[in-house]
Amino acid sequence: MAEDFNVKLTDKYYTPDPSYRQNSWVGDYNKAYAEFKNDPDGFWDRIARDLHWFTRYDKVKEWNFPHARWFIGGKTNITYNCLDRHVMGPRRNKVALIWKGEDDSERIYTYRQLYREVMKVANGLKKLGVSRGDRVCIYMPMVPEQIISMLACARIGAVHSVVFGGFGAAALNSRITGAGAKVVITADVTFRRGKSIPLKHIIEEAIINAPTVEHVVVLRRELHQPVEIHREMETDFYDLIKDVSPDCEPEVMDAEDPLFILYTSGSTGAPKGIVHSCGGYMVGVYYTTKNVFDIKDHDVYWCTADPGWITGHSYVVYGPLLMGATIVVTENTPDYPDPGAYWRMVEEFGVTIFYTAPTAIRMFMKLGEEWPDKSNLSSLRILGSVGEPLNAEAFEWFYRVIGKNRCPILDTWWQTETGMHMITTMIGEPMMPGFAGKPIPGVVADVVDKDGKPVPPGTGGFLAISEPWPSMLRTVYNDDERYKKYWNTIPGFYAVGDLAVKNKDGYIMVLGRSDDLIVVAGHNIGTAEVESALVSHKSVAESAVIGKPDAVKGNVIKAFVILRNDHAPSDKLKNELLYHVRITLGPIAMPSEIEFVTTLPKTRSGKIMRRVLKAKEMGIDPGDISTLDE
Ligand code: WT7
Repeated sequence: MAEDFNVKLTDKYYTPDPSYRQNSWVGDYNKAYAEFKNDPDGFWDRIARDLHWFTRYDKVKEWNFPHARWFIGGKTNITYNCLDRHVMGPRRNKVALIWKGEDDSERIYTYRQLYREVMKVANGLKKLGVSRGDRVCIYMPMVPEQIISMLACARIGAVHSVVFGGFGAAALNSRITGAGAKVVITADVTFRRGKSIPLKHIIEEAIINAPTVEHVVVLRRELHQPVEIHREMETDFYDLIKDVSPDCEPEVMDAEDPLFILYTSGSTGAPKGIVHSCGGYMVGVYYTTKNVFDIKDHDVYWCTADPGWITGHSYVVYGPLLMGATIVVTENTPDYPDPGAYWRMVEEFGVTIFYTAPTAIRMFMKLGEEWPDKSNLSSLRILGSVGEPLNAEAFEWFYRVIGKNRCPILDTWWQTETGMHMITTMIGEPMMPGFAGKPIPGVVADVVDKDGKPVPPGTGGFLAISEPWPSMLRTVYNDDERYKKYWNTIPGFYAVGDLAVKNKDGYIMVLGRSDDLIVVAGHNIGTAEVESALVSHKSVAESAVIGKPDAVKGNVIKAFVILRNDHAPSDKLKNELLYHVRITLGPIAMPSEIEFVTTLPKTRSGKIMRRVLKAKEMGIDPGDISTLDE
């Protein structure tokens, strides 16, 4: 199977300076892994003890296939561990958050300031009638208020559902109604490449036919031209917190209460509301932030992800704040006003840990070494990557040009569903370009065939996980049947939906998705969602979309469209369809190509065979087509 993917392997391991392992939290990987294997519950118990529990749990886990519960009976609040704990200790005046805007403006919050802002917004939400268990949708650009809003929800036990600001009205509507959100927090505009892009009208459209929404809170940023607030339903963000107290006791949450819902594309049908818990998620992201990134108190940590994705939840917001770290956040695009923007920020803030996506790394490669070379990057000590495979060429470039042949690179494999890192090369271990690495201590994963039998090194198979872990998804919101499918596809395993191959040392290379998901610039896009957006246009009878390999984005979307009888193909119609997808789903889901066709390859049972379309597109053998309906 691996041959199909044209895998180029290097045979060279990169070995970090021994000081990395000597000084790391995790120490020796093999020893740490063995400690976990000998006593999994004891392993997680030791980690969970670092955190504050209002009431201690009486049991680490209960595994009732396919449902797990963790830290049974434990009571906590993640914001207590992210904020109160540090404010009461020596980190009160430590910088928690450095934010940089496009116009070079800066906002800096110490732990104490962040703590007070969170409590004010929490009290503001209470004033709107939000209480424990209510869902709040956060649809905002990357501003401090986005993070503060997430923490404010968690403070009072409300369940946040953050929707990435690049989604369009229909995608937003299905996520708001899916979660039954009572309040939506949004902003008037997002700033991008020197322009302001309006957001509020998208919300206005998205809450038509969203009967659960009672209030919309609007952060107004365009102060010289403020958008109008419709007082019946809308509240200005800063009016909401004008007269409220900066004290708000943390809600006492059960370890198994939901902390948030985050929608991710499914291979079929509507997006899935992945539900994460208060206790287990907290322990999982705390553990990995500490041991995978090896964060120390002096680190300046920058993860470029938007909190609208799981990477932002786990490794911009919760994990680093649990560690009491200083985080850098920016609304900037990496190549605006010029391709040196990010590297100047590394120098300016003395960033020590830099975590980004392969698509960004490949874009920087294309833009040329002269840009990073203009800045002093000597503060960097650790680099990270997530979202899609980090191919060997991109690894080597990142290692040499950004890390100056010195910084270990963490290629972290994980998912919205896993909540935390699962596979990587732990700090100090030898790294193999193209390979993410091994399961981290705490995780049992393998490459198996469809019956769950491990495949030998060098043979492709399905990546699968065999033991529960604390930050695993608890269910799919309002659809536990869909949750069960993760555990029922490969006997005895949680099926992640990726193809992978192992080398003789047990290092895992992730090859790509095995299902109908397309990873575009590190964002998971469901073929089903794009197809149904196309079919919702009056001219389209049927459509099928596939991912096509792309040197920078990993994949781009190509759509095949069958028109209704009363419509004829034209370039104008192509553009209209592209625009239609853009306003329904948002720019991230836009196909880069549309082809009008008269038939689509289908199985006898009527299922579109995207695999066949893809093989034809790429000029390769389509494989087994025995089920194809001629
Ligand atoms: C899918 C999960 C985890 C946060 C970002 C995406 C792909 C993710 C890697 C990696 C190869 C990767 C997989 C996975 N993926 N990280 N290091 N190497 N592939 O979260 O949207 O839930 O997508 O992204 O295909 O299943 P997500």
